[in-house]
Amino acid sequence: MKKSRLIIGNWKSYLGLADGIALAKALVDHHVPQANQIVVICPQFPLLGAISQVLPFHQQTSNGILLGSQDISAWDAGAHTGDVSHSLLSDLGCHYSIIGHSERRQGNQETDAMLKEKLVMAINNGITPIFCVGEPLNVYQSKQTLAFIEAQLTAVFSDFPAIPDQLIIAYEPIWAIGSNIIPRLSEIETVHQHINKALQQLFPVTPSESIRIIYGGSVNADNCKSMIQQPSVDGFLVGRASISELDFLSIIVNSNKEFTS
Ligand code: 13P
Repeated sequence: MKKSRLIIGNWKSYLGLADGIALAKALVDHHVPQANQIVVICPQFPLLGAISQVLPFHQQTSNGILLGSQDISAWDAGAHTGDVSHSLLSDLGCHYSIIGHSERRQGNQETDAMLKEKLVMAINNGITPIFCVGEPLNVYQSKQTLAFIEAQLTAVFSDFPAIPDQLIIAYEPIWAIGSNIIPRLSEIETVHQHINKALQQLFPVTPSESIRIIYGGSVNADNCKSMIQQPSVDGFLVGRASISELDFLSIIVNSNKEFTS
């Protein structure tokens, strides 16, 4: 089976209500679905309701624009002030969730144990996790990237109590986020292959088509063209460039392997 590629926009906390709705509407109006490609946007939590109203038809088609959240609760619905329940996410048509972004690991002190709970919750509630891994600059400079990433995967996925239908791993080197610097193509390929190998050992019964490995960190409409040609790059997690209509739509088109090759 051919793997569909993923272009995921992480809007972080950049856009407010009016800007978020305007961007979602513009994407709906101008997005041209590409073969074998899934497009997901991840707005801030309070925007999900309004944006789900903008995407109603898209959510029912396989080639539309789909909705994801930037985090997920580690608990079932109930007495968890400030959390958002999985059933509400599903009601809003939100079927993807970013988990373990480096900005949350660092800024919100999210631990491996917490991330494991979140991953299990997402999978048990039918939400596809977009699990982020990536090394800081000192680890990259000391050439310890592969061991660091493998440890991040093992910390959450060994003895994992759920079987994912679909799993997305986003390789986001921390030093590449917001810096306009990306790793060499060969480095990205090596890390993605290593992630693939580690996951095959951690999930021996999950078919390889169900696991996708995407790259994030300073992706733009230009550098995506060569990165998508790497055999183990299944798409992108895009930050700043996803809040510009023109940039995000260009990334969608330029990440069509058939088109660019
Ligand atoms: P930038 O694309 O702004 O570097 O952000 C990447 C990112 O953190 C996506 O999750």
